[in-house]
Amino acid sequence: MTAVRSDLTIEQNWEGYSEEEHAIWRLLFERQQRLLVGRACREYLEGLGGLGVAADGIPDFQRLNDILDRATGWRIVAVPGLVPDDIFFAHLARRRFPSTCFIRRRDQLDYLQEPDVFHDICGHVPLLMNPVFADYLQAYGEGGLKALGLGHLQRLARLYWYTVEFGLIATEEGLRIYGSGILSSAGESVYSLDDPRPRRFRFDLRRIMRTRYRIDDYQQLYFVIDDFQELFDATRPDFAPIYREMTNLPDLEPSRLDQDREFVP
Ligand SMILES: [Fe+2]
Repeated sequence: MTAVRSDLTIEQNWEGYSEEEHAIWRLLFERQQRLLVGRACREYLEGLGGLGVAADGIPDFQRLNDILDRATGWRIVAVPGLVPDDIFFAHLARRRFPSTCFIRRRDQLDYLQEPDVFHDICGHVPLLMNPVFADYLQAYGEGGLKALGLGHLQRLARLYWYTVEFGLIATEEGLRIYGSGILSSAGESVYSLDDPRPRRFRFDLRRIMRTRYRIDDYQQLYFVIDDFQELFDATRPDFAPIYREMTNLPDLEPSRLDQDREFVP
């Protein structure tokens, strides 16, 4: 039985993974690598290479931490599953990324609602090698602790969803993915960029905070940033006046049309 500490972290117990679990990682990794060339943003691919995350099997967090810590001062901490918001934000605010340890089963390759080690490590951690994104996620954690105190968690959770999990970025080579929910899904990696059905809006903090999202299907709406500096700058101001300004504004559906915000390449 794995001991759970007071901050809800555990040991990864890397030696305990079975051959089958490493084989599932290999399958997922190789499939995503083929898809992500020309789809994932450059910063993600550089982070993946810099960390040496590869097809050979589920990585040992300790090995990744040696590299990550030197690059941006972030560390991965192992957790048993989704952790309560206050603990999650407190980890981010201290540059600690909570990662699950278990890997999905072979019959769940294409779809899994909860995060697993492939989503957390292959989806989230490579961007933490980028200094600007690394600062953004720490600022997000600090903002999360404040939002909890102010009772506006839902607004802030939408920012995480539409950026960290499902964000797109405009580059000179075209639209690219940086959101880990997309990067760790073979189907959505193609759908988010190539399918005509979802809408793509320019990044807009207030619009994001008012827009609902769904967790049980591909997204109907993506928000496009110009670069990570735009994200970091957007989270710099105190959100308290923004939350106040929005108190009486209704939530919006992701399907709502809004031609002014449409991303035009
Ligand atoms: Fe995630």
